[in-house]
Amino acid sequence: MSDKTMKLTGQGVDVDLPILSGTVGPDVIDIRKLYAQSGMFTYDPGFTSTASCDSSITYIDGDLGELQYRGYPIEQLAEHSDFMEVCYLLLKGELPNKEEKAKFINDVTYHTMLHEQINHFFNGFRRDAHPMSIMCGVVGALASFYHDSLDISDEHQRLVASYRLIAKMPTIAAMAYKYSVGQPFVYPDNNLSYSANFLKMMFSVPCEEYKVNPVLEKAMDLIFMLHADHEQNASTSTVRLAGSSGANPFACIASGIACLWGPAHGGANEACLKMLQEIGSVDRIQEYIGKAKDKEDPFRLMGFGHRVYKNFDPRAKVMRETAHKVLAELGVQDPLLDVAMELEKIALEDPYFVEKRLYPNVDFYSGIILKAMGFPTEMFTVLFAVSRTVGWVSQWNEMIADPIQKIGRPRQLFLGETQRDFVKIEDR
Ligand code: CMC
Repeated sequence: MSDKTMKLTGQGVDVDLPILSGTVGPDVIDIRKLYAQSGMFTYDPGFTSTASCDSSITYIDGDLGELQYRGYPIEQLAEHSDFMEVCYLLLKGELPNKEEKAKFINDVTYHTMLHEQINHFFNGFRRDAHPMSIMCGVVGALASFYHDSLDISDEHQRLVASYRLIAKMPTIAAMAYKYSVGQPFVYPDNNLSYSANFLKMMFSVPCEEYKVNPVLEKAMDLIFMLHADHEQNASTSTVRLAGSSGANPFACIASGIACLWGPAHGGANEACLKMLQEIGSVDRIQEYIGKAKDKEDPFRLMGFGHRVYKNFDPRAKVMRETAHKVLAELGVQDPLLDVAMELEKIALEDPYFVEKRLYPNVDFYSGIILKAMGFPTEMFTVLFAVSRTVGWVSQWNEMIADPIQKIGRPRQLFLGETQRDFVKIEDR
């Protein structure tokens, strides 16, 4: 606890608020006693100035465009690490040595299969159901199958639930896709890497041999790594809030999936690809830049802007490189990549985007990569959910183990009617 304070004076109030310092990043004013001392709340819709917790997992410097998992810059992890190692790092705090990594992969991989009865759930969905709606339902339902990992006060059970979620998400995601195209479910292959196994479950069919392309396996792994965690974003905060009531981990992750589905969050890569398709050719870019700048027009340039990054999203740079590699490997000439690059160039020079510090975010190029790899647009957010699961469970574990954790219960500024008497229906 620091001995720095900040004085808040006025309206008959005179309180000293403690100032807390993290290891890096802005200090925070501790307002926990503010209501008791002043009778007032703070007002911060969208939590633009509020730290909801302390955390040691992920750090972002939005002005510098930096992202670090447990202190390691994302660029270094993208170059030298892999998704399983990143999962270990996020969950446990340190990079594993060789033996720890092998054991971790084994422990997670052990859980890739689903209880066979879960397969029947899928028949209850329409074939054209959005896979995110299937994800919300099926992941939430895991709680009814894995009763031995629901006791959140038991650290071991929390770990088993975390492994189960990381391991089973790709299986559920691939099944949601297979169901939509009328192909048989493909069981996990535990001899393959996390990413290769996912590609196989997605794209193989029983009648043909399937060989995983190592370039696509690497691209998939990178996409998983880049999306693995992003500190207190909307879906992670949702998971923490759901978990703060003591809800089971499967229900909490289902709530995170629901939040991620929105177009302002995980749905942005799907929305971005649709936008690029709608623009269609380089000569129509100016028209859409105009729409994005027009206050009367609700249109926004998808894949641009970020609540935290007021500089290049470091993940977007890795994604742009990966897009080029994947398209070259597959021999795909996608005109949408030309539209994206030109759009990025024009927007980065346009005073509207420059002044508002709107830069491409992670979703700007990811859609192009995923499309080239054969993923339908509806699956894009699902892939985000698969990657983010490790971030969600790491943050959830951190919260449960935090002795100062309380049930999340924001306050409000009430603007509605004051008390009035009920009027019977015949008198209204
Ligand atoms: N296109 C045009 N104008 C924009 C855009 C955009 N993409 N993003 C923000 N602005 C403008 C906005 O109109 C506002 O202008 P003004 O100050 O004149 O009212 C200003 O910039 C600030 O916008 P804001 O909505 O107050 O900023 P925010 O921090 O609440 O929103 C955001 C962040 C990501 C929701 C927003 O930038 C956006 O809607 N972007 C498009 C969707 C998108 O790509 N989302 C993916 C986020 S990255 C993946 C993830 O981490 O989930």
